[in-house]
Amino acid sequence: MTQQIHIINGPNLNLLGQREPEIYGRETLADIEAACQKRCDGLGLGLVFSQSNDEGKLVDLIQAARGAAAGLIINAGAYTHTSIALHDALKACDCSIYEVHLSNIFARESFRHHSYISALAKGVICGLGWQGYIVAIDAISRSLENQS
Ligand code: DQA
Repeated sequence: MTQQIHIINGPNLNLLGQREPEIYGRETLADIEAACQKRCDGLGLGLVFSQSNDEGKLVDLIQAARGAAAGLIINAGAYTHTSIALHDALKACDCSIYEVHLSNIFARESFRHHSYISALAKGVICGLGWQGYIVAIDAISRSLENQS
């Protein structure tokens, strides 16, 4: 059976390409999804890619990854810095978690320096733009290969 990577995107990431392109880049979320799909296809992995602006919906998406995902990549947007609900949902996940941010959150406002996700993540990638998602896909693929 094809192993699945779930990529979950949080609030305002649907506006990528239009929203502060000097910080987040000119690529849209659809461009990022297409790049991730291409990489997963090349690696023989399935991809479930989603986005929501709603915290409860994000909890549902994380819960849906339980038992279904071989690896979970999450860019929780601003909920990274605020959400104990997302932290708890991720804690209940049985697969490895990679936290991705397009921007370098540590070079920005101090309220972005704390993450409720990082302590649960196998890896944290920030500041590499959309390519951070590809780095995370490659890391999951390598660790799945090492397990098999
Ligand atoms: C972000 C960083 C967050 O601080 C911010 O709220 C976002 C995007 C990033 O990808 O750089 O919405 O997660």
